[in-house]
Amino acid sequence: MEKLEAALAKAREMRQGALGGPEAPRSSTTKAAAPASPNWQSLPEVALPEGHAQRYRITALSGGRDAAPYDMLRSRIIRMMKEKGWSRLAVTSPEAGCGKSTVSLNLALSLARQRDLKVMLLDLDLRRPSLHRTLGHNPEKSLHEYLDGSAEFEQCAVRMGENLIVALNASASRRPSELLQSQVSRDALDAAERRWRPDVVIFDMSPMLASDDNVGFLGNVDCALLIAAAESTTLPNIDICEKEIAQLTNVLGVVLNKCRYADDSIGYDYGTYQ
Ligand SMILES: Nc1ncnc2c1ncn2[C@@H]1O[C@H](COP(=O)(O)OP(=O)(O)OP(=O)(O)O)[C@@H](O)[C@H]1O
Ligand SMILES: [Mg+2]
Repeated sequence: MEKLEAALAKAREMRQGALGGPEAPRSSTTKAAAPASPNWQSLPEVALPEGHAQRYRITALSGGRDAAPYDMLRSRIIRMMKEKGWSRLAVTSPEAGCGKSTVSLNLALSLARQRDLKVMLLDLDLRRPSLHRTLGHNPEKSLHEYLDGSAEFEQCAVRMGENLIVALNASASRRPSELLQSQVSRDALDAAERRWRPDVVIFDMSPMLASDDNVGFLGNVDCALLIAAAESTTLPNIDICEKEIAQLTNVLGVVLNKCRYADDSIGYDYGTYQ
C-alpha cells in the first residue's frame, strides 16, 4: 500500500507542470442571476428500502464508525472545493465495479448531513445506471431524458432528507456519449443547478477505460475523484486515468476502495471497511 501511494505521488510530481490542470473554477452559472429556487420539499422523498443499506454498502446515512471513512473524505473534499470555489465533482474509475456509485451515494449522504450544505447527486452513468436500484425507486422519466430535453427534472429527481436531491435513470441511454458531449445537456445541467441551487453537485460517472463518455463530459465539472479497486485496478491504469483526467479537469485525489486490510495511517484508505 505504501509502495502504491509513493508511486502515485512520484508519478504526480513528475507530471506537475507538464500537464498543469484546469485550476480555475469552470465559468459556471451564478447564483445571483438565478430565479427563486423551488422548495426542495416539493420533490418526492425516498428512503432506502429495508436491507438495501447493507446490500449496497450504504453506511453514511447517519454518523458513527461505519460512516467515518466517508465523513473524512467529505471534510477533505469540501475544504478543497470551498478553497477553490468549486461546486461540481465527478466520481469515476479506470474500470467497472470499483465502487463509484457506492462512494458517490455515501459521500452525498455524508455531505448532506451537514445542515448548511445542499447536495445534488446525478446518476450520469448513462450506460449502466444503478442508483435507482440502490434507492429502490424507478423514476417516471430518466435523467438522460431531462438532459435531451424530453422530460422535466422533477420527473427523474427524488429527495433523501432535507438536503439531498438524487436524479435517477430508469433505463440506459441509447446514445450516452453524444448526449454527454452535447450543448443541450450542458444547458440542461446549468439550468438544473441555477434552479435548485445546490452547494455541491456530485456526478456518478461511467468508468474511464470503457468508453469516451468521461472524455466528452469532464470539461463540465470543476474536479474529479478517481476510485480504484485495491486488488484489481493496476497502477498503470490509475496513472493513465489520472493523466487523462488532469487534462480535462482538476484531479481531487485517488480513493483506494475495496481494501481488504484497512490501515488508518494511510490517507487513501477511505471506504474500506468490509
Ligand atoms: N469498499 C467495498 N468493499 C467491498 N465491496 C464494495 C466496496 N465498495 C463497493 N463494493 C461493491 O462492489 C460492487 C460494485 O460497486 P459499485 O456499483 O458502487 O461500483 P461502480 O464502480 O459504480 O460500478 P459500475 O462501473 O458498474 O458503475 C457492488 O457490489 C458494491 O456493493
Ligand atoms: Mg456505478
